[in-house]
Amino acid sequence: MKNSLLSVLKPFGQEHLLTFWDNLSATERTHLAAQIHSIVQNTGFAEIAELYEKRGETAEYESLVSRANDPEAYKFSTVTDPTPVKSPKALTPPDAVLLGQEALRNRKVAAALVAGGQGTRLGFPHPKGMYPIGPASGATLFQIHCEKILAAQQQYGHTIPYCIMTSPATHQETVQFLHDNRYFGLQEKAVFLFCQGTMPAVSMTTGKVLLDTPSSIALSPDGHGGMLAAITRKTAENAESSILDTLEQRGIEYLFYHQVDNPLVQILSPEFLGYHIGSGSELTSQVVRKRFPTEKVGNIVEIGGRLRIIEYSDLPESAAKLTNPDGTLKIWAGSIAAHVFNTALLRRESKNKASLPFHLAEKKVPYIDLQSGERIKPEQENAVKFERFIFDLLPSATNAVVVEVDPPHHYAPLKNAPGSASDCPETVKQNIAALYPNW
Ligand code: UD1
Repeated sequence: MKNSLLSVLKPFGQEHLLTFWDNLSATERTHLAAQIHSIVQNTGFAEIAELYEKRGETAEYESLVSRANDPEAYKFSTVTDPTPVKSPKALTPPDAVLLGQEALRNRKVAAALVAGGQGTRLGFPHPKGMYPIGPASGATLFQIHCEKILAAQQQYGHTIPYCIMTSPATHQETVQFLHDNRYFGLQEKAVFLFCQGTMPAVSMTTGKVLLDTPSSIALSPDGHGGMLAAITRKTAENAESSILDTLEQRGIEYLFYHQVDNPLVQILSPEFLGYHIGSGSELTSQVVRKRFPTEKVGNIVEIGGRLRIIEYSDLPESAAKLTNPDGTLKIWAGSIAAHVFNTALLRRESKNKASLPFHLAEKKVPYIDLQSGERIKPEQENAVKFERFIFDLLPSATNAVVVEVDPPHHYAPLKNAPGSASDCPETVKQNIAALYPNW
């Protein structure tokens, strides 16, 4: 087995992965060989080498931003900010609600939650969905989200599929937690729990894949964009059909997508769905008007007739601060990562490798020193990780549009540890407590 693995690894200078091979047990060898085969099948060492080689190349954000225009937008009915937006069609909120309700009644809508992140900034040693955030009830994020699906099911009188993506780091605990809590009232068979894929981490200086232990590769989740590959993949448990196959077979046309960290997200909002359907969009995203130029959100802009997101980390500060003659921000639309995708778009783009490029991030990744065999926990960034972002589908989508929503009714993300200045348990609880009494 060693020789056949060497023949796979050598052409790409990755044979160091077998440094400890001779001292591994049979089980450890099988495990390491399976990891190597899985990399070959999913990405390939050639692509990893290519990504690493191109790591210095960044998009010309200055020039992109100079061509950026306002995205076409609708205003959600609860928005009070008077700044006008240009809408592709004259759709009133009641028209939108009717369209959305019709799609929900006709079983055309499912929901998806991405919960594979490790929540490093929050400093919570469990999947973030297990964080108790209800100010009085102590309800966890998972409970809050599942109960919204349950409420929609009761309203529309049928089961709504809920796809929940985990990662290897969050999968077992999430499955156990949802099982122990009886899926918070949802039917187990309507909840599609699936684990996203992984990508190896490589050394920042050499491009060599890192070992996490002598018998396993340092792997990390492949980003929320990994959802596309994960829902189109057939698994050992379900060899007949992928999750997307099943959704399509059930006549689902729209997939409402949201993140685990926002308890105020209006899952399956008929008004939001209605703007999407009424404007013939393949991908519609919720945005908030940014409170300050450098707010940590993705910025949705229109460039050359297509929408795209420029992440806060890529937006030059000078561009972030540009204003219109009336003093409002030029780049104003901050993504809250609540989207609706046409399943037809997901199907089409799942066959197009270029639609979800990998993004590279420099991170601290523990690794095995090949000389001493010791596990080193670096204090500085030492590795490059590869992630895909689902919102990179925006430029591929026809008639993509955004819907401006207001934070008090839609957005209170849990990102940071208790005691932080913003987006932490205290501020999220305050935002929930400010909204619920109004109901
Ligand atoms: C994200 C968005 C940003 C948006 C903001 C809104 C990215 C790169 N940026 O920022 O545009 O304005 O949210 O709150 O996403 N996840 C996985 N698997 C992964 C990685 C992440 O499922 O491999 C999930 C997380 O569990 C979470 C979501 O994706 O639900 C967002 O991840 P996070 O890394 O917290 O994104 P932010 O940097 O906060």
